[in-house]
Amino acid sequence: MKKRVFSGVQPTGNIHIGNYLGALKQFVELQNEYECVYCIVDLHAITLPKDAEDLHKHILDVAALYLAVGLDPKKSVIFVQSDVPGHAELAWVLMCNSYTGELSRMTQFKDKSRGSESAPTGLFAYPVLMAADILLYDADIVPVGNDQKQHIELTRDIAIRVNNKYGENTFVVPDGRFLKEGARIMALDNPLVKMSKSAESDLSRISLLDDEAKIKKSIMKAETDSDGTIRYDMEKKPGISNLLNIYSVFSGTAIADLEAEYTGKGYGAFKKDLVEIVVGALSPIRERFEEIRYSKELEDILKDGAARADVIAKETMRRVKSHFGLGICK
Ligand code: AMP
Ligand code: TRP
Repeated sequence: MKKRVFSGVQPTGNIHIGNYLGALKQFVELQNEYECVYCIVDLHAITLPKDAEDLHKHILDVAALYLAVGLDPKKSVIFVQSDVPGHAELAWVLMCNSYTGELSRMTQFKDKSRGSESAPTGLFAYPVLMAADILLYDADIVPVGNDQKQHIELTRDIAIRVNNKYGENTFVVPDGRFLKEGARIMALDNPLVKMSKSAESDLSRISLLDDEAKIKKSIMKAETDSDGTIRYDMEKKPGISNLLNIYSVFSGTAIADLEAEYTGKGYGAFKKDLVEIVVGALSPIRERFEEIRYSKELEDILKDGAARADVIAKETMRRVKSHFGLGICK
């Protein structure tokens, strides 16, 4: 039996090269070796208020991007989280098996609730819903960016805890899969913080759908240092190191080889080449996105994905309910 992979991306705008290199690129590579289930996690998106029309648009945007980067609906199950009721259902069961203490320690919750005395309960329970996503599909492997490490650890803790209490085979205990290179892409205008969808300045990121002019502007304006040598040193030279990292993962050239190639050359020349590499990598993604985003095929793929996901989810819920003694209908 093939091992199963599960991962999810929130339907927000501005999906950027950090999301691509940290997550989506791995999703595509994994499809050939594993049984893959990829979700658009819209229930996670509403942990902070969202405009309904925007949310709906972003769900379809992310779905089209999934396909544009190379996910193949024949190989992978691609669907929207709220179309499969098992996610919310299992989340409740897991909430009864997780603790306010451990959830209060989640750095994402601390960041997002900072400054407010009271936060939405859903924001607090966010990692439990994420655990439900993963455990619902008996996933063995969860490819994500480094920033999700703590949530994966929590998922494992909850799975082990439930297994100890309700039977060893209640849940499969999953492993995270984090990329070393490219696992954390930093903001172009401030390489000390990670590239994010929500940063105010558009120049802080390169979105997957940016055109050539915008890509060029972001890279040429990216923060570097005054030392002028192209060398990887995340601590002393975070700006140029981040650009080297991006260059390396997009081109498939090792960082050491890039350092050698650019010895004696200036940041300007390096950045110009990087623009070309990134434009070359993103153009086909943008073209494919335009083809599919407004096609009927997109909705059909998501409906078919939800039906296939639901079969797995129902089977898991039957098992969980039986281990917990819940319900009377089989
Ligand atoms: P999110 O933007 O939080 O929905 O993240 C979607 C996926 O992209 C997750 O697997 C994240 O870990 C990953 N990700 C988000 N930001 C970055 C970044 N700056 N560098 C690398 N991976 C990232
Ligand atoms: N929390 C993840 C993020 O912000 C998204 C996510 C939700 C996810 N459920 C998941 C990722 C399950 C992997 C598996 O990136």
